[in-house]
This record gives sequence, C-alpha cells and structure tokens, in this order.
Amino acid sequence: MSLYYQDDFVTLYHGSCVGDDAEPWWTADVLVTDPPYGIAWKKGQNNAAGSNAHAGIKNDHDASVRDAALAIWGSTRPAFVFGSFRAPFPAGVKQTLVWQKPVDAGVVGSTTGYRTDTELIFLTGKHPKRPPSRSSVLTTGGGVSRYRTEHPHSKPTGLLENLIEWTTGTIADPFAGSGSTLVAAKAMGRKAIGVELEERYCELIAKRCAQDVLDFGMAS
Ligand SMILES: C[S@@+](CC[C@H](N)C(=O)[O-])C[C@H]1O[C@@H](n2cnc3c(N)ncnc32)[C@H](O)[C@@H]1O
Repeated sequence: MSLYYQDDFVTLYHGSCVGDDAEPWWTADVLVTDPPYGIAWKKGQNNAAGSNAHAGIKNDHDASVRDAALAIWGSTRPAFVFGSFRAPFPAGVKQTLVWQKPVDAGVVGSTTGYRTDTELIFLTGKHPKRPPSRSSVLTTGGGVSRYRTEHPHSKPTGLLENLIEWTTGTIADPFAGSGSTLVAAKAMGRKAIGVELEERYCELIAKRCAQDVLDFGMAS
C-alpha cells in the first residue's frame, strides 16, 4: 500500500485495505464505506441509458473482502456499510437504512415493472443513543447524472454528508471508489482516510479532492 494523495483533510492510500502491508485506516473514529457487495456485478453497453460497459468491481465475487475489513474495524466504533438485498448481510447489524435512489435510477435490466432503485446501509458497531427523530429511508433529489463519475458506483456526496453529520472524528473509507465519502468529509471540514485498490480510481479521487473544498453542489 502506498500514499497516493494527501491534503489538510484527506489521506488516500493506493492498495488493498486488507493484508499485511495495509496502512492503519482502522485508527479512524467512524467507518463509512461502500465495499464490493459480493454480487459479481458487471454491465454491458447500454447506449439508450447513456452508460458504458464495465467489467466489474474488484473482489466482488463474494463478500469476503468486506467481511475481512469489518473484522479489522471491530465492533466498538460506529460503522455505516452500504450493501445489497442480493448478498449476505454483514455480521452484527444494529439497524438497516434504505437509500431510495432518484426517480431515473434502476431502470436498466428491471423486468417486473418495479425499478431497482434502493440500496441498503447497514449500521454496525456502537452508535450513540438518540431519540428516533430521523427516518431510516434516505432519499436523494435530482437524477443519477448529478452524482455520476467515471466510477460505476459513485454515491451522492449529499447522502454521505447526511450519514457523516451525526458523527464525530476522523472518517475511514477503505473501499473509496471515486472518493465520494472523502469528498463529503472534506466538504464538511472533517478528516478522512481512504484506501482504493485500483489506481485509475485513486487518480479520480485525487482529482475530485483537489477541486474546490466546499463542493456543496452534489445531490442531497
Ligand atoms: C462499490 S465501490 C465504492 C464506490 C464509492 N462509494 C463511490 O462513491 O465511488 C467499491 C470499491 O472498492 C474497491 N476495492 C475492492 N477491493 C479492495 C481492497 N481489497 N482494498 C481497497 N479497495 C478495494 C474497488 O476497486 C471499488 O472501487
């Protein structure tokens, strides 16, 4: 694992977050991550939907890399872990949030008449006790183009800001992808440590993080 990018808020490592040479991303205070779900996702070309073919996400053949990272993280600090209805849930889930995607999401490949427009966010570890003032259904406005990047699974930074704002301390995202968590943390003036296996995505993260710090323009 090697240091790829650093600024006042974000530290990004290129390499695997699990394994002997992993830098200690697990020293952070809060885990907010969107790991390979274990669904062997890939995509054909779809010109009508304006989306390109993609060979898939590394380590997405099963949920073992997610579970290895969660085992390293442990159960004493808060974790927000994105996931799918179609894959085994992680251990120790305290609560499950549903992210309801924008109205133009989840259209391609759906044959039942219902869009595939929800994803799960598992809360594991220890979270502060609070009165139940928030819905467990999180929505994002606009359309998918508002948060699309060169990474096929980019998440809206507004959604991540929503998760981060109730937490304190440094954020870790060991499956950083296009860096949405890191960009959101930075926009909120929070420190964040990221890890990404694919160099092309590290390049994208560095580019995004080097842009305007106060990037409030993404979907919320
Ligand atoms: C679902 S994507 C994350 C997308 C991200 N939330 C975003 O908004 O762009 C999961 C990422 O984990 C990366 N990955 C897979 N195995 C990894 C590993 N062992 N260590 C670090 N990153 C890994 C993949 O390359 C992929 O970019």
